Amino acid sequence: MGEMAILPRKIEFIDLKAQQLHIRARIDAAIARVLDHGQYIMGPEVAELEERLSARAGAKHAIACASGTDALLIAMMAKGIGPGHAVLCPDFTYTATPETIALLGATPIFVDVRDDTFNIDPAGIDAGIAAAGRLGLEPKAIIAVDLFGLPADYDAIRDIAKRHGIFMIADAAQSFGASYKGRPVGSLGHVTATSFFPAKPLGCYGDGGAIFTNDDGLADVMKSIRQHGKGGDKYDIVRVGVNGRLDTIQAAILLEKLEIFGEECNRRNAVAARYSEGLQGHVIVPECPEGYQSVWAQYTLRIKNRDAVMETLRKDGVPTNVYYPRPIHEQPAYCNYPVAEGGTPVATRLAREVLSLPMHPYLDTASMQRIVEVVRAAV
Ligand SMILES: Cc1ncc(COP(=O)(O)O)c(C=O)c1O
Repeated sequence: MGEMAILPRKIEFIDLKAQQLHIRARIDAAIARVLDHGQYIMGPEVAELEERLSARAGAKHAIACASGTDALLIAMMAKGIGPGHAVLCPDFTYTATPETIALLGATPIFVDVRDDTFNIDPAGIDAGIAAAGRLGLEPKAIIAVDLFGLPADYDAIRDIAKRHGIFMIADAAQSFGASYKGRPVGSLGHVTATSFFPAKPLGCYGDGGAIFTNDDGLADVMKSIRQHGKGGDKYDIVRVGVNGRLDTIQAAILLEKLEIFGEECNRRNAVAARYSEGLQGHVIVPECPEGYQSVWAQYTLRIKNRDAVMETLRKDGVPTNVYYPRPIHEQPAYCNYPVAEGGTPVATRLAREVLSLPMHPYLDTASMQRIVEVVRAAV
């Protein structure tokens, strides 16, 4: 028998299979319990998950819902956002952020971001308010996005929001599990929306999301909107709502995933630390400011010759992704919406420079080492 070459393990960008292998028996048992009791909609696992999420987020209310997009939508519906209103959001984010604003007939206004954190630049918010004024729109809310798992600068944003009398929503689709100045994500905005899309740090096996708030009145309205605007009972309809419930099976899966989530967050932090140690000085590595704890949904570099480097990495077996290749205001669907006065030069530049490396809790040391070496050689 000839000698067998030892092939390096295939590197996955996000390895959901490795995680599943680890907890498969528990997931199977959790799904079987739902099949046994048969309460597929709003079953006991949904209430149990909401309790666990609210404890973890340090928020009085956690409301499970069908997706991170629905979470944003329900929060804004509850605040009566609609035509004639402006909602500020970063120009560098996933499409769901502006989509929910536009769906409600309100006008998204795109604000620039910081190049060190990728998050909305508090110093640019006044320019967004000025754009709303010029267009005769009433500024109603600001959606701060915790891009790549790092919380936005909530203290600064809250002060500005207060000064303008507007409402602060945290789009924490990518950051559940992170914290800011000792406070967990979920407790940072007046209302916080998160996503359990499979690739998120805490993901289910389909679509899912949750909304957090400490405001009792707002929580009641959001629960009603989640179920078609129901009042005291199912056929008492007191407002226009949506079908925005989380499936019981997804709640059961999330309960099992929560058991290992803390450990997974630690591992993500260890991967990020290893990357930064190996890549500092070779490329611009992502920052996590003092007092912030990221959950590293993505580990995102900035590289001038990004596309060439990406191609070299691909050939060397290191999968990468670009989040996001265009700022929102350059997307055909959003190019006619306003941008804050002065434009969004940082978001526009970042879209040309960002590159995200493989990131998941099951990356082994040899793979991390190989990724670091391949990136160093490629740049
Ligand atoms: C920043 C941001 N907002 C909102 C969403 C929407 O979440 P979902 O895909 O669960 O609807 C996502 C995720 O996809 C996201 O990354």
